[in-house]
Amino acid sequence: MGEREQGLIPRVLGRVVGRAREIELVVAALAADCHVLLEGPPGTGKSTLLRAVADELGLGFEFVEGNAELTPARLIGHFDPARVLTDGYDPDVFVDGPLVTAMRDGSLLYVEEINRIPEETLNVLITVMSERELHVPRLGRLAAGDGFRLVAAMNPFDAIGTARISAAVYDRVCRLSVGYQDAPDEATIVERALADLVIDRAWLAKVVTVVRSTRTHPDVRIGSSVRGALDAVAVASSLAKLRNVSVADPGVGLDAALVALGGRMRLREGCGRSAEEIVTELWQQVFGSTDSRADAEQGKADAPLGANPGSPHR
Ligand SMILES: Nc1ncnc2c1ncn2[C@@H]1O[C@H](COP(=O)(O)OP(=O)(O)OP(=O)(O)O)[C@@H](O)[C@H]1O
Ligand SMILES: [Mg+2]
Repeated sequence: MGEREQGLIPRVLGRVVGRAREIELVVAALAADCHVLLEGPPGTGKSTLLRAVADELGLGFEFVEGNAELTPARLIGHFDPARVLTDGYDPDVFVDGPLVTAMRDGSLLYVEEINRIPEETLNVLITVMSERELHVPRLGRLAAGDGFRLVAAMNPFDAIGTARISAAVYDRVCRLSVGYQDAPDEATIVERALADLVIDRAWLAKVVTVVRSTRTHPDVRIGSSVRGALDAVAVASSLAKLRNVSVADPGVGLDAALVALGGRMRLREGCGRSAEEIVTELWQQVFGSTDSRADAEQGKADAPLGANPGSPHR
């Protein structure tokens, strides 16, 4: 690893909350000319980390959203049909797609949700990863510039399973599993992202505790990511202004959490409860059930009043 990479790590650490080990491993893998696959649930900072590393390394970054419409032609590029009529299949007439741009520039090709791309597109990537060159009909052979690497991310909970990623892909990448942030890091992420709002740190940490507890609730298959915490805190802040009360007003926080978290949770089939009921239960476990209005709306007080010994109060 060169001096460039060593000086880089503190700079990346300044931009990403925590993740020292992951940053070091990604930098090392890229410095070793390896392709990298980050695998982890949504909102765990995969894109944030890669953007920071690529920026600080001074590497260009071609971003591709992985989905079923990402055909090989979209990834590679195409001859402009109108210009082909006048100029023929001239190299100038070729409109580079993100893969060709990344190969020519020697930059990173970042593919989000790689598990969602069609098989034939995956096969193009498999070839490029090992051969470092690409054959494009009528354009010819294209060699990858020096810094070219594929970095990809995927979510192991995705309905379009990771089983689609073949052994051939796994065999060509270094894989890094990225788990959920720890609680202090998650609170710091929210605090930094919403630094222009004046928010009590202790209250914010409790909101983060509620969000984190959606991930371990027995009725929840997939809980909310940190994005839910970001929205809950931001919505609570604007709601408090609208209602002209403090953000710590219990009704404000719970209403914000209901709207921010309800749609972000995937419940277990047949659990017989709504996401809103579960959010209310978790909120009351962490904050205590001081909100009589929410209790009344909820109808039944199905949560013990702030009396869950397992909930990490802060
Ligand atoms: N370690 C971190 N440092 C700073 N911000 C972070 C960190 N982790 C997550 N975030 C913030 O959380 C949000 C989600 O992060 P990001 O988009 O990087 O996640 P992701 O793993 O790429 O998610 P997805 O799988 O859905 O693409 C962003 O607003 C980002 O700024
Ligand atoms: Mg991402």
